[in-house]
Amino acid sequence: MQLNVNGVSRAVSSPPLTSLLEVLREELAVLSPKHGCEQGGCGACTVLVDGEPRRSCLLPLAAVGDARITTVEGLGAPGDLAPVQSAFHDRYAAQCGYCTSGMLLAAHALIERKGGPVDRDEVLDALSGHVCRCTGYVKIVEAVMAASRGQVGAEPIEQPLAPEPSQPEIEIAGSPA
Ligand code: FES
Ligand code: FES
Repeated sequence: MQLNVNGVSRAVSSPPLTSLLEVLREELAVLSPKHGCEQGGCGACTVLVDGEPRRSCLLPLAAVGDARITTVEGLGAPGDLAPVQSAFHDRYAAQCGYCTSGMLLAAHALIERKGGPVDRDEVLDALSGHVCRCTGYVKIVEAVMAASRGQVGAEPIEQPLAPEPSQPEIEIAGSPA
């Protein structure tokens, strides 16, 4: 069958009960959706199906049909990020990044649906069921609210302090971890 992924029709041959997550990652090498709990509870595998967030670990290939599937690879591109991607970057809303794809897509769907500023409770509601084991929730919520207000790209990004001689080197400059 053909699968519409990020605006491109792709031929797939996985059995019909294969999860969409498995097809995307293993057959099409679309790697932003992550294997997490594989039980619908963590949100790491979330993709957009016709614009709505869905848990791809629970969605069999046969149920997708000709729906439009969007992953983070189709949300924006380097140098042309979607607002929610820019806001996550500006505000250090990703740490290890394992939950980030799912968070971005759920947040993007919320902002599209609302069409204007979203408040904190709306973000919490939209991201409930998305688990961040790095516990970066405060910055994630801030980033989604900022993206919904168009507050992206203009925020100054704090430069990391140089380590004292007694402190370990920071391996990744700018990492908040
Ligand atoms: S891997 Fe799908 S919800 Fe956790
Ligand atoms: S950034 Fe690490 S799990 Fe969320």
